[in-house]
Amino acid sequence: MKELVVSKIKDGTVIDHINAGRAPLVLKILGIDVGTDLTVSMAMNVSSSKMGKKDIVKVEGMYISEEKLSKIALISPNATINLIRNYEIERKFKVNPPEVVEEVLKCPNPMCVSNAEREPVRSIFYVKIEENEVSARCHYCGRKIKDLANYIS
Ligand code: CTP
Ligand code: ZN
Repeated sequence: MKELVVSKIKDGTVIDHINAGRAPLVLKILGIDVGTDLTVSMAMNVSSSKMGKKDIVKVEGMYISEEKLSKIALISPNATINLIRNYEIERKFKVNPPEVVEEVLKCPNPMCVSNAEREPVRSIFYVKIEENEVSARCHYCGRKIKDLANYIS
């Protein structure tokens, strides 16, 4: 049986199949924080036939930019975006992690030129997806990072 955890929305975006526990990070990427005026609902660790457990975020009246969608893909490569108009799903698509990300992740290596104080260069990472988890490698110093959520700048 299918249960509805949070009610349907009229117009806006539903981000479904978010990796369990990461909905707060999705809100962070969307810039939704304390004091927001938006109508937002969030469910964490709900049962999903496809994923075991998943998170969901629903935002009324918001349509999300490509840039933010690619950030969401880095932390939740299986997320599905549903654009809702007048209660109907107008479009459904999967997020798509980019192969290269510029100025999205911060290299944790303090010696990396991307962190140089005087002449910092744009951060560039090469993204790899393995078994539902995304990792990335710094263009400049080769440092590999997992759990990209910790490095979103
Ligand atoms: N949804 C919503 N408001 C609407 C329509 C849909 O909040 N007016 C939500 C549903 O609650 C669900 C998501 O959008 O979380 C996708 O809806 P739907 O495609 O009907 O569900 P599924 O078939 O389970 O989706 P999928 O195949 O992507 O798993
Ligand atoms: Zn680096």
